[in-house]
Amino acid sequence: MLMMITMMVVQAAAGEGRTYEYKSMQSERRNLLANGLANTPQMGWNSWNHFYCNINETMIRETADALVSTGLAKLGYKYVNIDDCWAELNRDQKGNLVPKKTTFPSGIKALSDYVHNKALKLGIYSDAGSLTCSKTMPGSLGHEEQDAKTFASWGIDYLKYDNCNNNEIKPTVRYPIMTKALMNAGRPIFFSLCEWGDMHPALWGSTVGNSWRTTNDIKDNFDSMMQIADMNEYYAEYARPGGWNDPDMLEVGNGGMTKDEYIIHFSIWAISKAPLIIGCDVRDISKETLNILGNREVIAVNQDRLGVQAKKVRTEGDFEVWAGSLSRYRVVVLLVSRGPEPGPITAHWDDIGLPPNTTVVARDLWLHKTSSQRFAGKLTATVASHTCKMFILKPVA
Ligand code: GAL
Repeated sequence: MLMMITMMVVQAAAGEGRTYEYKSMQSERRNLLANGLANTPQMGWNSWNHFYCNINETMIRETADALVSTGLAKLGYKYVNIDDCWAELNRDQKGNLVPKKTTFPSGIKALSDYVHNKALKLGIYSDAGSLTCSKTMPGSLGHEEQDAKTFASWGIDYLKYDNCNNNEIKPTVRYPIMTKALMNAGRPIFFSLCEWGDMHPALWGSTVGNSWRTTNDIKDNFDSMMQIADMNEYYAEYARPGGWNDPDMLEVGNGGMTKDEYIIHFSIWAISKAPLIIGCDVRDISKETLNILGNREVIAVNQDRLGVQAKKVRTEGDFEVWAGSLSRYRVVVLLVSRGPEPGPITAHWDDIGLPPNTTVVARDLWLHKTSSQRFAGKLTATVASHTCKMFILKPVA
C-alpha cells in the first residue's frame, strides 16, 4: 500500500527534479526528530518558577536528593532541569559555553554524574538567539552543533530552548537547526521548544521537538493559570505520543493560589497531557503540596498510554466540563467551577464521547473513592467555587 502511494506520488510529480525534492523533503521531516522520547509527557522539576536566576550547583544537588527522599522521583518526576543563568556571559577561546564559576564551580558534568547516580536525568537551558532571556549568558544561535555536542559530552538528557534575542529570524528556521544538532550529538536529548506559542508551534512542532510551549509565561495566580489552560486547550488535537503541548511549568506549591486552585491546576495539566514539571522548592515541600503533586491516580491519567489531550466540551457561564479518552475505553472528566458560585455541573455522555447506552462506575481521583452508584447517560456533581471534581468513568457490562 505504502509502495503504491509512493509510486503514485512519484508518477504525479512532473519531472525528476520535483520527485527528488518531494522525497528528500519527506525524509528530512521524518528524520529531523526521531529520538524515541516523550512517549508520555515529561515529568520532573525546573528551577525557574521559584528561583529565577538564584541557582547554584548545591541547590540543584539538594533538589535531586529531595526528589528521591520525598518519593516524587519514584512517581515519575525524573528530569532535574536547570533553567536560565547557569553560564558565564562569555564563551571560552574555542567558543564553548562555560558554566558560571561562582555558582557552578564543579561544572555540569559533575552535576550530571551526581544526578545520574540517583537514577535521575539532567536538563539544561539555552536560547535560539544571541543571548538568553536574562541576558546573563549566551544563546546558541550560530553555535548549535558545538553546544549540542557540549551538552552531550556533559551527559545532558534534556534541553529547554528559549526564544529571546532572536534577530527576528522565524522560530521555524532557528529551532530545526538545533533539532538536527541534537540528533547528531550522539545521545538522546529530549527537546523542549519554548517559543511561547508565537508561531503556533503545535502546527509544526512534532517534527522539531518533543514538546512545545503554547503560551506565554505562567504566573502564580488563578487567572493566569486558567487563561493559559484555555489557550493550550485550543491545540488539543496536536498532542500525541512523541510531542506534547506545553502550557508551561507547574506553580503548585509556590503559594499564590489556594489548595483547591492548585488542585484545579494540577488536574487540568494532567488531563491536558501537559509536561508535569514541578516549579516549587522541593527541598522544603509541604505535605499539602506533596499530596497534590504526588497523586498517583492523577499522574496515571497524564501518563496514560493513549496520549489523548482532553478538551473543554461544554461551558455554561463559569461552569466547565473537560473530558478526554483514556486507554481501555475509559473517559476522564473534569468538572470545574471557575467563578464565584457553586453549581451542579453535569457531564452528558454525548458531550464526553461515551455511547448513549453506556453504564459506568465513577472513580473520584481526589477522594480516591469509586462510586457504588452506576451512572447512565450523565453524571452530575456539586462543585464549589474555585474547585473541581475529577472522575474516571469506567464502562461496566
Ligand atoms: C522565558 C521562559 C521562562 C524562563 C525564562 C528564563 O522566556 O518562558 O520559562 O525560561 O525565559 O529567562
